[in-house]
Amino acid sequence: MEGVIDAITRDLLTRQPGFDWTVTEFVRVVATCLPPRTFLRHCPELATPAPCTPSGVPVHLQLLGSDPKALADNARQALRLGASSLDLNFGCPTKLVNRHDGGASLLREPHRLQAAVAAVSSAVGDTLPVTAKIRLGFADRRLVLDCARAAEDGGAQQLVVHGRTRNEGYRPPAHWEWIGRIRRHLTIPVVANGDIWTLEDYWKARTLSGCRDVMLGRGALADPWLAARIHHWHATGERLPTTRWHNRAGLLRDFAALQRNIHSNKVVVSLLKQWINHMRGQDSEASRRFDTLKRITDLDRLVGALTRPL
Ligand SMILES: Cc1cc2nc3c(=O)[nH]c(=O)nc-3n(C[C@H](O)[C@H](O)[C@H](O)COP(=O)(O)O)c2cc1C
Repeated sequence: MEGVIDAITRDLLTRQPGFDWTVTEFVRVVATCLPPRTFLRHCPELATPAPCTPSGVPVHLQLLGSDPKALADNARQALRLGASSLDLNFGCPTKLVNRHDGGASLLREPHRLQAAVAAVSSAVGDTLPVTAKIRLGFADRRLVLDCARAAEDGGAQQLVVHGRTRNEGYRPPAHWEWIGRIRRHLTIPVVANGDIWTLEDYWKARTLSGCRDVMLGRGALADPWLAARIHHWHATGERLPTTRWHNRAGLLRDFAALQRNIHSNKVVVSLLKQWINHMRGQDSEASRRFDTLKRITDLDRLVGALTRPL
C-alpha cells in the first residue's frame, strides 16, 4: 500500500504466521526504464536471493503503468534485479495516477489492460509469474468481466479483485458477491479483497466470493494479528484472543525503532501516527490514544506515550 506498507511494515506484519505473500507499493512506470535504485527503494528485499521478508514470506514487486513497451522494459529490469513475481496494478483510484493513464483508468479499456499484461508476460517469459489486481470497474461494473478476462488472456496467473469500482473509492461495502461472479468466469485463481477487518468478515468474503484466498489491506494494519487469527482458526478451529492495545503498542515501538534507522525523527513521527490512525476503527483504546498523541511532535515523547497510562 503506497505510503503505508514498506519493507519494515512487511517485516513486522509477517513475523506472525498467516501471510502467504506480500506485495510492494507500486513502482510507477511512465516512459523510461527506471534505475535499479528506484526498484530497490520500493523493494529492499531485492537484495536477498529470492525477495522475501526476514521471516521468509515472498515479496511480489508491483508495477503501475499503461504503456506496454515501458512496462516490458521495466519488467525486464525487475527480472535482472532478482524479482521473483510481478504484479500489475489496475486498481489505484488516485486522481493524479488516473489522469496520467495509470491504475484504474485502464478498467475503461480492457484491450489496453490486456496489452499491458501481455507485454509484461512476454517480456519475462516463463521465468516469473505475472499477476494483476483490478477493481470492479471505473465508474460502473459494465466492463468488469471483460477486464478480468483481459487480464487472464494477457497471461496473468492470478487476479486479485478489490470489490469496489474506482468511483466507489473506499466506501463500504465491498461487493464480495461480484468477486464470485468474476471467479466463475476465469480459470486462474481469483483472490478476494476489500473490507476484511475481522474473522467474520473473512468468512463472509470467502463464502460470498467462493475464493479460497483473500488479500488483506487496511485490516492488517488495523489488527496486525488478523492474518495470524485467520491462520490459527483454520489450523485449530479456535479463536486467538482479541488484539489489545499493549500488543499494538509493542509493535509500534518496534516499528519506530526500525524506522528511525532510515528516516528522520519527523518522518517517523508521522509514520507512527499514520499507523495508529489505521488502528482506530478496530480498537477504542487506539482511538483514545490517537486523540492524546496526535499533537506530540517529538519522537521519544511519542514512543513513551504509547505505553503511558491514559
Ligand atoms: C493508502 C492506501 C494505499 C494503497 N496503495 C496500494 C498500492 O500501492 N497497490 C495496491 O495494489 N493497492 C493499494 N491500495 C489498495 C489496497 O491494497 C486494497 O486493495 C484496498 O485498500 C481494499 O482492501 P482493504 O479494505 O483490505 O484495505 C492502497 C490502499 C490505501 C488505503
